[in-house]
Amino acid sequence: MNLIVLSSVDSTNNYLQTLFDNNSLDEGTVVISLEQTKGRGQRGNSWQSLPGDGLYASILFLPPNFSVENQYYLNKAIACGTARYIASKVSDDVKIKWPNDILMGDKKVAGILIENSIRGSFLSTCIAGIGINLNQLHFDFNYGTPGTSLRISSNNRYDPELEITKLFDEIWSDYQLLLKGKYDLIASDYQKLLYKAGEESRFISDQEFSKGILVEVDKEGAAIIEVDGKRLRCIHPQTRMIVK
Ligand code: BTN
Repeated sequence: MNLIVLSSVDSTNNYLQTLFDNNSLDEGTVVISLEQTKGRGQRGNSWQSLPGDGLYASILFLPPNFSVENQYYLNKAIACGTARYIASKVSDDVKIKWPNDILMGDKKVAGILIENSIRGSFLSTCIAGIGINLNQLHFDFNYGTPGTSLRISSNNRYDPELEITKLFDEIWSDYQLLLKGKYDLIASDYQKLLYKAGEESRFISDQEFSKGILVEVDKEGAAIIEVDGKRLRCIHPQTRMIVK
């Protein structure tokens, strides 16, 4: 890991992307910032990033000869590594809510924003932005899923500069499996960690159903949801799972 620690930045994903565009960087370069002034979440949302509250990190992956067809396995590996890191800190049940929110119980503790660049039929760059609620006690906005933090669960305070090493090690070990072609292993780990897999859940969907059973997430990241005995293939965010 080649770690860059900033005190303040707009977004660690933006910073790492600009740094990469202007320099030759090794993969495994990681940027963390103690705060972000314009932290970005999925679907154009913002990610609240006050100093001391969270871990705001971006990791650079430059997978060699990695087919674009397999790019979603990298998302799965990053989500699994992040979930394992969180599970090592708390006694709660830690799960991945499709596509890649990390939940403790039924509350969101971490979010992941993955930005890929494609060249031809290969994935050339992946910048994985990970936001983990370390010490945050109050959650003003939650886009439908209530928030929680490691501190709320464990009563401990966490230092982002120490935690990044442990998070990175978990993610990097799954990434090494991918580079060895162990796609099935990543897919089965993801399936084991998948929130509400095999249970009836509520959804908001353009396919006009509101209840169904999440069966699995396929290799393109689509959810296979069983509705009235039929299996539907659903894309995020046109279909979204509702927590509780
Ligand atoms: C989500 O909406 O759940 C994804 C949140 C991702 C937040 C992280 S914090 C570090 C990195 N930099 C950003 O601007 N966003 C990601």
